[in-house]
Amino acid sequence: MTGPLGEPWSSGSTRTADGSLSVAGVDVHELAARFGTPAYVLDEADLRARARGFRSAFERAFAALGCEVDVYYAGKAFLSRAVARWVHEEGLRVDVATGGELAVALAAGVPGEHLGMHGNNKSDEEIAAALDAGVGRLVADSLVEIDRLAAAAAARGLVAPVMVRVTTGVHAGGHEYISTAHEDQKFGLSMAAGPGGDSPAMTALLAVLDRPSLRLLGIHSHIGSQILDPTGFEVAARRVLELRAELAARAGVLVEEVDLGGGYGIAYLPGEEPMDTDEVADGVAAAVAAAARDTRTALPRFSVEPGRAIVGPAGLTLYTVGTVKPVRLDDGRVRTYVSVDGGMSDNIRPALYGARYHAEVVGRSSGAEPVLARVVGKHCESGDIVVHEVQLPGDVHAGDLLAVPATGAYGRSMASTYNLVPRPPVVGVRDGAARVLLRRETVADLLALDEG
Ligand code: LLP
Repeated sequence: MTGPLGEPWSSGSTRTADGSLSVAGVDVHELAARFGTPAYVLDEADLRARARGFRSAFERAFAALGCEVDVYYAGKAFLSRAVARWVHEEGLRVDVATGGELAVALAAGVPGEHLGMHGNNKSDEEIAAALDAGVGRLVADSLVEIDRLAAAAAARGLVAPVMVRVTTGVHAGGHEYISTAHEDQKFGLSMAAGPGGDSPAMTALLAVLDRPSLRLLGIHSHIGSQILDPTGFEVAARRVLELRAELAARAGVLVEEVDLGGGYGIAYLPGEEPMDTDEVADGVAAAVAAAARDTRTALPRFSVEPGRAIVGPAGLTLYTVGTVKPVRLDDGRVRTYVSVDGGMSDNIRPALYGARYHAEVVGRSSGAEPVLARVVGKHCESGDIVVHEVQLPGDVHAGDLLAVPATGAYGRSMASTYNLVPRPPVVGVRDGAARVLLRRETVADLLALDEG
């Protein structure tokens, strides 16, 4: 089969006539020869198109209401200076969650006012850096933090723009660890009424209004990640709009902005359907409009924070196959364990969340009968699995190139140096050319941290 591969591969991924894979016009043999494996490959045009697509879907849906929209790229999914520039050039802003992400976005030239600063436990240094950079919004995550933000802003003679992160009770997404708006977790302030009457969310909103060095910009909600059903967003939007109306009735202030966070799901396996951006944008816009109508409040400026949906499908990981070992299972079947030169250090998601991935031998074509395979890494753990179950050609052998699609989000950004395996490079490809965005870590880099 030749031609574009389709989801879950990036739009620039094509099978060539000799069975090889080319990404944005660059053959994987060339990538492996120049940059080595494992390597993350990022299809720039695909990433840019997804950024544009997100922006236009939400702008279109909300323009019909006469509402302005901002799309913030969630840098936690993957951030380098190049990626920050690309998304900013496509009209997105950037959501950062730590001082490190803030520094990279600023180093890329993203202006402070186009940055949103998150974090449930911001350090004094992070708050100072965000205020000094003039970030467009600080998202407050606790009552204690509101006081800390107010003090830091007052010390600088500033009035800092603040959103309050609330938990709407909507629980969505693929895995408990990546679902964030239910009650029993660390993020945000609950909208459920407390023993004294007011909810922690309402208490926090009133607290921000009360601090002269803070300006209450709006309300923020993030309900989870890898969400494939738009209903959760619609319910969360309504609840946030209701809270906004309640605050207006209570304090006479109708806050300008509402942010519904990220979490838009992608396809990881062939045949899976990603979240339809137009459908979710239309659904959320309708929910916002209905809630504004029912509560008789004016519409807010609206924003979202996709991470995975922008960078996930644009990335793939290229590995070289090493040991291939048939293992007889209890039921008599044989599973072929295919070891690659990376593993849980470059993709922790299967081990951490039980995430499922796809893999293909990409350097050649093969007429061999497929076998049931499990792709594993080189780490000292039996849970070091890259792909739980996949059909690979029966003649898969050492030296084969293997590609795992849809690794652009939370792959490199969650990579570790476990077993002192240096982290792979991120190689950007575009129009037949490749260049290193993040170089490969070396053993010398690791030794440089070791003070003896
Ligand atoms: N906004 C906020 C406040 C967030 O906490 C997150 C993700 C996002 C936006 C972006 O979510 P996205 O659109 O990328 O789903 N490591 C996990 C995902 C954790 C997401 C944490 N917050 C994973 O690999 O699936």
